[in-house]
Amino acid sequence: MSAAHPLPETEHDGETLWQRELREQFPIVTAHPELAYLDSAATSQKPRAVLEAVQTYLTTSNANAGRGTYPWANRTTELVEGTRERVKEFLHDPEPDRSAVHFTSGTTEGLRTVARDWLAPYLTDGDEILVPHADHRANLDPWLEVQRLLAERGVGVRVRALPYQAVSGDYDHRRLGEVVGPRTRFVAATHVHHVYGGDMNVHRIRAAVGPDVPICLDAAQSVGHLPLGLDDPALDVDFVVFSGHKAMALPGTGAVWARNARGPVFRPAGWRGTPNTVGIVSLRTALDWLDAAGPDRIARWTAGLTTRLTDRLRHLDPYEILGCPSSLAADTALPAAQRRHGIVTFRHRDIPSDDLGFILYSHGFMVRADSLCQAGAGERDGSVRVSLHVYNTVEEIDRLLAVLASLT
Ligand code: ALA
Repeated sequence: MSAAHPLPETEHDGETLWQRELREQFPIVTAHPELAYLDSAATSQKPRAVLEAVQTYLTTSNANAGRGTYPWANRTTELVEGTRERVKEFLHDPEPDRSAVHFTSGTTEGLRTVARDWLAPYLTDGDEILVPHADHRANLDPWLEVQRLLAERGVGVRVRALPYQAVSGDYDHRRLGEVVGPRTRFVAATHVHHVYGGDMNVHRIRAAVGPDVPICLDAAQSVGHLPLGLDDPALDVDFVVFSGHKAMALPGTGAVWARNARGPVFRPAGWRGTPNTVGIVSLRTALDWLDAAGPDRIARWTAGLTTRLTDRLRHLDPYEILGCPSSLAADTALPAAQRRHGIVTFRHRDIPSDDLGFILYSHGFMVRADSLCQAGAGERDGSVRVSLHVYNTVEEIDRLLAVLASLT
């Protein structure tokens, strides 16, 4: 995936101008120059194009989808169905006639749907599944719930933990072989870690588990942040689950893309009744916006900011940056190690993290400061997370570093 990229220093640099033009498109960001929104891993801000698409839809063709035959209803149905195709296109789906896209309220609900409606009926007594025990709880709890539900019916399923590499922090594809067996039926993985920001190198999992095991990818922190191309044979996953609201769309939007090539066809019980039409309209526009901006360029920009932050923060004595230490140096030459994508989480030796969160807000920085919903094998204590998107600037990072340095 994208390498860290040194940020341009001059006003005239093309990347800086490009970013400035994009930032100008976020009314909430430009209206508050005294604040810095550094919590995009929780939800992103929305560009004007998305706000206008919602306004236009609601003032020109708002109706229900899949019902009614008058023009507004037909237009709404087209928008919803067209957005399914748009999601496939955004993900570079190589076989769009075979796959399906199901809308959800976000990644948490999407993963639950895959667990409840697809995984539970697919598993039989003695099967094994591999799941992450140190990623977001939303990518662990649904699989454990399937195990509990099936146990009540007398179906025993073994849940095994995906191994992590101690040095790089991504999944240990070499040790994966030790936990994969003839009864392995499913793997759940995370594309970019929501605490450490690391690329989990999920393209190595397929080779380790063999050609037949379905893989479900939690892409909550990668869609909209870096290119995700399903036409890459190395990224041979069966489900991609993501939150639209973290990718410039409205809250309450998300999607599950299902390849429908391994195991049964995904037939979610789904959203009964009226779909979130406005959210779906916003998602379509958000994907257009992201494609126009260029996921590759966005990834380079946020990787540059991330490197700028970690490269200086690691020299400030009272701070501990969580996650893979070898990914912190700007000059890291690790070819396939974990790279940080716009997420940096840290603690102060003497200031509790929730207090640090309040202090940072008193200086205008909006960060997340708590336990970050990490599953049980993750961090024991709270921390402060800075998470970035394309609207963040070098100046914001430098201002943040100055405040952090003043707290030493
Ligand atoms: N899952 C989101 C986060 O990590 C809310 O902050």
